[in-house]
Amino acid sequence: MCGIVGYVGPRPSQDILIAGLARLEYRGYDSAGIAVIDGDGNLGMRKKAGKLAVLRDSLEDAPLGQGTTGIGHTRWATHGGPTDLNAHPHLADDGKLAVIHNGIIENFAPLRDELVAEGVEFLSETDTEVAAALLGREYRSNGGDLQAAFQAVVNRLEGAFTLLAMHQDTPGLVVGARRNSPLVIGLGEGENFLGSDVAAFVEHTRKALAIGQDQIVAITPDAVTVTDFAGTPVEAEPFDVSWDAAAAEKGGWASFMAKEVAEQPEAVANTIRGRVQDGEVVIPELDGLDDLFVGINRVIITACGTASYAALVGKYAIEQWARVATDVELAHEFRYRDPVIGDDTLVISISQSGETMDTLMAVKYARERGARTLSICNTQGATIPRESDAVVYTHAGPEVAVASTKAFSAQITALLLLGLHMGRVRSVLTDTAAVAELASLPEKIASVLEKENDHVTQLANWMADTRSVLFLGRHVGYPIALEGALKLKEISYIHAEGFAAGELKHGPIALIEPGQPVFVIVPSPRHSALIHSKVVSNIQEIRARGARVIVVAEEGDAAVLPFADEVIHIPLAGAMFEPVLAVVPLQIFAMALATAKGLDVDQPRNLAKSVTVE
Ligand code: M6R
Repeated sequence: MCGIVGYVGPRPSQDILIAGLARLEYRGYDSAGIAVIDGDGNLGMRKKAGKLAVLRDSLEDAPLGQGTTGIGHTRWATHGGPTDLNAHPHLADDGKLAVIHNGIIENFAPLRDELVAEGVEFLSETDTEVAAALLGREYRSNGGDLQAAFQAVVNRLEGAFTLLAMHQDTPGLVVGARRNSPLVIGLGEGENFLGSDVAAFVEHTRKALAIGQDQIVAITPDAVTVTDFAGTPVEAEPFDVSWDAAAAEKGGWASFMAKEVAEQPEAVANTIRGRVQDGEVVIPELDGLDDLFVGINRVIITACGTASYAALVGKYAIEQWARVATDVELAHEFRYRDPVIGDDTLVISISQSGETMDTLMAVKYARERGARTLSICNTQGATIPRESDAVVYTHAGPEVAVASTKAFSAQITALLLLGLHMGRVRSVLTDTAAVAELASLPEKIASVLEKENDHVTQLANWMADTRSVLFLGRHVGYPIALEGALKLKEISYIHAEGFAAGELKHGPIALIEPGQPVFVIVPSPRHSALIHSKVVSNIQEIRARGARVIVVAEEGDAAVLPFADEVIHIPLAGAMFEPVLAVVPLQIFAMALATAKGLDVDQPRNLAKSVTVE
């Protein structure tokens, strides 16, 4: 969950590192630090608790110098609280060696005991400082060969890690390694980069190399070498970054979240582009892979957080269009409960980052059990697609705000495409209207943004003192109720819960007291008069108990008007498409309410964008 950047080249590295960290700050923001080796071979280091701005201010007051080799880190604390001392880099070999780390070194305690017994004194509570001390010891004992020492050390570490190191005696060299944690290489002209993801270096180069699991990389200004943990050279996989630096900038918006909410029409359009041909969904990445979908008895979609709510919408779509039993499993529960899966199971994983550790482990587990695996991912070069048999990329562009918005819409869109693709491949698809409707989805999202933004923002301003909000939905409205509640919780710190509307009478209705705000996602009566009438009954039940009812309903749905305090309209759409529209006002509501409370909507407390620890 930390952000990592490394640089070697002709340019002073301090500003390059800080700019890279600014783009990676979404990965963790409780402390930050950099180390730089200058032309005289001196290693300088600065690290500060707090957001990157604290470090940046400190460096403006007293720069580290013109050194052209450097590493930088932005942290989400695991071992030890967010203090200056626990921040990275960690130093060893009398301050000549610097190390940064993302992940958890699970065997750090015995390694630390081993070093303490030799007289090593530790300054921090981190597992990372243990790796640094080990590296320092190995470097001294092998006569100063950083690459060999690094290889020896990573072979002793257990757990998940991306580790970067440099030594002042070897300026112009940064070494890195990864195990179950991300690291990509950026290829420049006479300079090279390392980063947790391409955002770290995209303003300098869009040429990148993906590094596989358990591999080590060494970069100098003119060369990149990659080996496995045994030292055997391996080929890294080249790719071009499909978006430019501007895509990861705020570009005049008040927050990244505001920008990303507004980008949803484009994100969804980009996810659909090139995947509808002659009235059929054809996903080019799945050419020749029909075997993934034919002969299966079951689909399991696994994901965490917002991605798991997209998965719930996917369950409805895949069952309806591809006629195969589909379950959704939280990734962290799936792999710990001995699930019944085998080669007749397709396990679909969904991850914006492609690095969520729980989801990655679920994918690996599924593969070990012989299941077929497919991932839906937004990040090129990420680990989860590399560990899957196939990948369908969402093309939402970089998502920086911790609260996922455009990635969610794009994930649902990818699932709709996949459901339609599977239905065709399995020869069971009858709903041709759905394929035709895909094209109009971006325009409908734009219409919700245009028509409801001010209304919902005003509503949120009125409700800025609210202490609890409930969300109800049925059918595909249920996952949207869950997502609406999660958005509100994570950025406005208000108690919020989402329920299946039918579950209300089984307990949650006891929460309703006069004035309790409840959002209700109402499905169109055109799809099912029965489901619609059940939801309208649920509204009457809570209204009778004094709830303040805010309805999200299709334009023209007159049946809800007598029972609603507020109505938010969405355009007419097919049943499976409504979630992508209904979620938009809930995102706006959470964002506006957090803003009204004066909170940082992009970097909410205690969270990080990419959860790369279990
Ligand atoms: O990168 P992923 O899609 O795998 O992330 C999964 C969740 O951690 C993520 O959706 C999280 O719930 C978001 N903060 C929600 O806004």
